[in-house]
Amino acid sequence: MKSYRDIAGDGGSNILGQVMALRERLETRLSRVRHVVAVMSGKGGVGKSTVTAGLATVLAHEGKAVGVVDADLNGPALARMLGVRVQQLRLGPDGVVPAVGAAGVRVMSMDLFLPDEATPVTWRHPGGLAADTTVWRVTTEATVLREFLTDTAWGDLDFLLLDLPPGSDRFAAVAGLLPRLAGVLVVTVPTLVSQAVVRKAITAAQQRGDPLLGLVENMAGYVCPDCGSLSPLFPDGHTEEMAEAMGLPLLARIPFDPRLAAQADAGLPFALTHPDTPAARALASLAEAVEGALQP
Ligand SMILES: Nc1ncnc2c1ncn2[C@@H]1O[C@H](COP(=O)(O)OP(=O)(O)O)[C@@H](O)[C@H]1O
Ligand SMILES: [Mg+2]
Repeated sequence: MKSYRDIAGDGGSNILGQVMALRERLETRLSRVRHVVAVMSGKGGVGKSTVTAGLATVLAHEGKAVGVVDADLNGPALARMLGVRVQQLRLGPDGVVPAVGAAGVRVMSMDLFLPDEATPVTWRHPGGLAADTTVWRVTTEATVLREFLTDTAWGDLDFLLLDLPPGSDRFAAVAGLLPRLAGVLVVTVPTLVSQAVVRKAITAAQQRGDPLLGLVENMAGYVCPDCGSLSPLFPDGHTEEMAEAMGLPLLARIPFDPRLAAQADAGLPFALTHPDTPAARALASLAEAVEGALQP
């Protein structure tokens, strides 16, 4: 079989050296992070960013050093949810200084590079025609993400949370970049439509041997903002069934609370501003479960 160097010719050792150097820089940066945790789903709109932002603010409020990477490059949400949409990034001696959001969470997001929220992310391919090919786009996105991880001056972190884009295949590209992944949380809503997609993402993660921590059920009922009563929103019971079928613990059930959505829009940390609500309590117990699962 031909070796990589045979195929790459004279430049091979150079390219290989460059790849190794990039990997080493990422490893050095992440060596100061105790736990890298990914939040994924496969499905869009189920609350991955909500769970990431909520978990991050609860952990930071407890005194943990927390960073978040908005790995959803085309649908970034964390900058707004954590109230840093208007912050400017600056270059410090150790790299790009992350924006500092609610509860002191350090944030890196594509949103911080875009002039306004209406501007989409576009990738310009030097060869023109190839610009639409999936392989090229996936590679480019992985490169940007590696730069987010490597070039950000995170400092010492207890937790670095990765908010992933939808799509059951997207996680593999991100996981492939990471030298160490402590855990993966899987977010779903209690419908069979959502779970049909989420199951595929779980199976793919299990086949790769990713460290799945468990499921988070979001939109588990509706909290009336006036009287605080909890009423059904979707059919109940599907998530427990899926958790059992997939062999995963159900770590938290977060109800839908219209005040949470409003606070997310305003960049405020609902889990901290409304601690005595069912959604905030669910986020707090999720943080506890994650910390418990990741103790050395
Ligand atoms: N439990 C919840 N209560 C109220 N609003 C929620 C809840 N979960 C998500 N949302 C809202 O629903 C929308 C989609 O959630 P988001 O976290 O962006 O999903 P995803 O990251 O999976 O695409 C957001 O506007 C968010 O504020
Ligand atoms: Mg999102």
